[in-house]
Amino acid sequence: MTIPAQCPFHARSLPGDGTPLSPSPQLAQWREEGALVPLDFQDGHEGLVATHYEAAIAVLQDPRFSMRPGRMPVGPGHAAHEGGAESAAVPLEAAGELDESGRRSDDLNLLNLDGEEHSKLRRAVTGRFSVRQARGREPWIRAMIAEQIAQLRAKGPVVDLWRDYAMPISARTHCHVIGIPDHHYPRFVELFVEESTAQQKYDFIRALLEERRETPGEDVITDLLDNPDLDRVEIEGLLRLLMGAGRDSVAYLIATASVALLTDPAQLAILRDDPEEIRAAVEEFMRVGAMFVTLFARTATEDVVVEGIPVAAGTSVAVSPVAANRDPGRWERPEEFDVTRDAFGHLGFGYGIHGCIGQQVARVEIREAITALLEAFPALTLVDAEQLTPQPFAHPVAVYEAGTVSVRLDGRG
Ligand code: HEM
Repeated sequence: MTIPAQCPFHARSLPGDGTPLSPSPQLAQWREEGALVPLDFQDGHEGLVATHYEAAIAVLQDPRFSMRPGRMPVGPGHAAHEGGAESAAVPLEAAGELDESGRRSDDLNLLNLDGEEHSKLRRAVTGRFSVRQARGREPWIRAMIAEQIAQLRAKGPVVDLWRDYAMPISARTHCHVIGIPDHHYPRFVELFVEESTAQQKYDFIRALLEERRETPGEDVITDLLDNPDLDRVEIEGLLRLLMGAGRDSVAYLIATASVALLTDPAQLAILRDDPEEIRAAVEEFMRVGAMFVTLFARTATEDVVVEGIPVAAGTSVAVSPVAANRDPGRWERPEEFDVTRDAFGHLGFGYGIHGCIGQQVARVEIREAITALLEAFPALTLVDAEQLTPQPFAHPVAVYEAGTVSVRLDGRG
């Protein structure tokens, strides 16, 4: 199949009629149409979206696809976006102030970089996110979750699992791993969970770096301050990304996994009968509940052939983990939620050199949060969850939101 550089038909926008556990049927239809199909990007330019598992992997591991914003083709309506020529590559937020060297810390966002520039910065932080590090943090995470369970119990019998449980677990772990001391936790929540400007975030990061210079520990900030190859702009850029990245995703996954279980009594019973199944279940939560409808768009830097389909240089390609995670070419009974299946290999954490840095610690958080919740509340029931009806995408890359997840802890009512 050949996709012409200029598609004669009007391409399509991402469908907004899906929910995390029940994605839009449009995605299945596109998957049937092909491994790469036309997509209207939100700035109006046309590109492609990878819907098949193998095509998704091929794009994500191919260095000829660039993350650099400057390579993004410019489409109609583009100039209206903040960030000028960069906007189509969806910077996470408005760019920060210019540094004295003329670089912005925001330009050093790993998700906007390729090649050696990317790997140098990524290498500087990956050590703290290894399997071993995540395992070492298990006792701390378990103890912190026990505190959250006690608070839930005190607050019940009806609570919002996102706000009262998932959010504090993800934010506290984030602070612990990055190295944000407890006395800054409320400010961290104000700045990175609630609304704030880039300037406020950088002021916080700079003050924190000053403080932490005197108090090294087992955390990311200490590693960054000790790294002779990094300058101030790089350190601040990395911290800005890490403080914003992933925390919301962990909270989303804890909330969505809870909804998946509480709406499927047979799967819930499997985990209640055998809590050891939780390890496999976490991968299945990530497969069926992936939050990224599309990842950050890539751009072909030269003509490339993906799974037999030519992609012209300059074409934007979005990869859809939600579509690939339900590709019948890769998964048996893809629409079925089955906590006992081997769902490892899902694309919920992306794949390749930009694959999620925080995935090992995220797995521990989700596993421990769900295990503790089921153990503490044998009669837990769902009252209502916003995510059971389609909600608008909240981010420039289309992601599902957790929304409120109202539950009864005692099962009455
Ligand atoms: C369930 C939780 C999480 C999910 C679903 C998730 C998902 C993802 C995905 C899909 C990507 C790839 C984006 C792309 O290729 O376009 C990614 C990248 C990334 N994630 Fe996560 N994430 C989670 C947790 C975390 C945590 C806890 C952290 C850090 C503390 C984190 C930090 C990052 C960073 C820094 C990147 C960029 C990596 C790079 O460009 O090299 N994530 N994440």
